[in-house]
Amino acid sequence: MLAIPINQDNSPEAVLDILCTLKVRDVMTHPILTARPSDTLRQIQQTMKKNRITGVPVTDTAGTLLGIVSMDDIISALDSGWIEDPAALHMTTKVIVLRDTMSLSFCVSYFNRFSFGRFPVLDGDDRVVGIVTASDVVSTLLVALNREMEKIEQTAPPEQGSAATAEGPGGERVIEFRTEPFNFEIAGQASTEIKKVLKAAGVDAAVSRRVGIASYELEINQVIHSSGGVMRYVITGDTLSIEARDRGPGIPDLEKAMTEGFSTATDRVRALGFGAGMGLPNTKRVSDSFSIESSASEGTVVRASFNLKGNKQ
Ligand SMILES: Nc1ncnc2c1ncn2[C@@H]1O[C@H](COP(=O)(O)OP(=O)(O)OP(=O)(O)O)[C@@H](O)[C@H]1O
Ligand SMILES: [Mg+2]
Repeated sequence: MLAIPINQDNSPEAVLDILCTLKVRDVMTHPILTARPSDTLRQIQQTMKKNRITGVPVTDTAGTLLGIVSMDDIISALDSGWIEDPAALHMTTKVIVLRDTMSLSFCVSYFNRFSFGRFPVLDGDDRVVGIVTASDVVSTLLVALNREMEKIEQTAPPEQGSAATAEGPGGERVIEFRTEPFNFEIAGQASTEIKKVLKAAGVDAAVSRRVGIASYELEINQVIHSSGGVMRYVITGDTLSIEARDRGPGIPDLEKAMTEGFSTATDRVRALGFGAGMGLPNTKRVSDSFSIESSASEGTVVRASFNLKGNKQ
């Protein structure tokens, strides 16, 4: 069962605001599929399967709620041999419902209080108008939070990330991140952080997207192919240079490594979704300048730079 991990006693104000402003009708799925009490559980099971849903409210023809059939009821019916019976005989009739005008705050507390995966939603005339699942709530919340964070970002100064940031001798800005082999907890941090820095500096989204691609590919390469290294970003005027330097084992054949589709990724790495052999070619494609050096003793250094005012495709 998906619990909604929000504690309304100590959530930040922005979250509480969202929970109070949004209504159940903003998150519910509607229109919804309903069943009649005379439908067999088998028919209802087929409807669920076809529509990939896990619960169906049972109503009369006027839309008044009579009960609900959930996946659990179907499983019991299959176990007990009454799958061909009409829903009326076995549906859950003590249904807890929400009203379409209730706040999301109310809805979240329902999910945390009752162990149901979904609640039918009734309108002012007691007719079923929708259904709310925990995942409906979570996805709406994420969209609302994203919007809220954008507002906050526009008003607050950008926070300093976990990166080591320094001012270089020529007034340039230097940011460094370490990477560790197979540490996916910190993998991707450097790329996220540099995109934040660029956004705060007002760099065009298309440029920042290209930087993000290159940075991510080089960072992940260090994580999956090397013994770890450093991602170094230097911003001088309108230029951003990325230097991805690792401690080895180096790339024996650079030409091959730069070929689309060439990869030495192991099955373990491929299972994680890497290993298409596109990282280096893509990095070169999105960068304004690109170079790669590698040796078994020194490891690999990839350099990619970007004109932050540029508009390369
Ligand atoms: N930092 C590195 N250290 C050692 N070998 C590397 C490094 N980066 C890349 N390679 C080698 O170059 C090959 C090609 O790299 P590339 O990023 O293009 O593809 P990939 O990482 O295998 O797959 P993808 O990036 O599409 O997930 C890798 O399979 C690996 O053999
Ligand atoms: Mg790669």
